[in-house]
Amino acid sequence: MTARIVMKLEVVERIDLGDGVARATLRHPRRPALPAWTPGAHVDLRLPDGKVRQYSLIGDPDDLTTYTIAVKRDETGRGGSRLAHQILREGAIAHVSAPRNNFPLVPGRAVLIAGGIGATPLIAMARALARRGEDFAFHLCVRSEDSPFPTLVEAVCGDRLSVYRSSGADARRLDVAALLTGVPDDVHVYCCGPERLTVAVAEAAAGRSEEHVHFEVFAATSDENYKPEPFDVTIASTGQTYRVPADRSALDVLREQGFALPSSCELGVCGSCECGYVDGIVVHRDVVLKPSTRQHRMMLCVSRARVGVTLDL
Ligand code: FES
Repeated sequence: MTARIVMKLEVVERIDLGDGVARATLRHPRRPALPAWTPGAHVDLRLPDGKVRQYSLIGDPDDLTTYTIAVKRDETGRGGSRLAHQILREGAIAHVSAPRNNFPLVPGRAVLIAGGIGATPLIAMARALARRGEDFAFHLCVRSEDSPFPTLVEAVCGDRLSVYRSSGADARRLDVAALLTGVPDDVHVYCCGPERLTVAVAEAAAGRSEEHVHFEVFAATSDENYKPEPFDVTIASTGQTYRVPADRSALDVLREQGFALPSSCELGVCGSCECGYVDGIVVHRDVVLKPSTRQHRMMLCVSRARVGVTLDL
């Protein structure tokens, strides 16, 4: 595992697109090129209160002079997007990580399904698919006629876009089950959006192979009934064992013991703290790992174990 570098980037343009969405373009004050990225990647924006938020890169990966992100201001959220709107002012310096991609585009035909701000990781994918001449469709659900995302997406993929507005004169809802019934099993399905949409897509795609269904999630799933229990972590290379109390994470306990472990979201959504394990029954509480990977990898920030786990450290 390696820590991600954090860069101080200048906000060279900030445009308010409407419906609480701001688009910010970031440039390194001295370096002509930023670290490379691929469609579906995000960066971490470090906020002044110490919190970290992930934002997908919506620009063109062939142009590394700048990064472009879109931030939707959420008045009912935990405050991260409001703070991000405050700091992303033209001329300001933003602390931004190198890109990471938990949601890569793979070769093949594709159906892209997004809800609201969930369009952002799919915009760069749509651009790449269009350039490749790949067969794809983009289904975008938005709440209001004010949403800027239909315009942003249409600029990239033209008439491959279908928009579903839940209010206004032309309101209509996306029937995910009906949509996927007409999509062959070898087409890749990519989805990013609110939990209601991702659950609907997961249910409709339940019979498809894991390799053909891809999700990006930027909010931790809530499970108010979950009661954490203490457990032990053993370090495979040394045999040392540490107790993780019910109110702390394995990540916290291991850091306290001097392990230099990377992290970012600490919510189980970014993949930064992924670690291998060689023994134990893990209670996975992240939204990043694919089911097939959960047999040997875990996220130390949120996942726990029944009794104990031996980590590949
Ligand atoms: S720090 Fe983001 S998944 Fe653990």
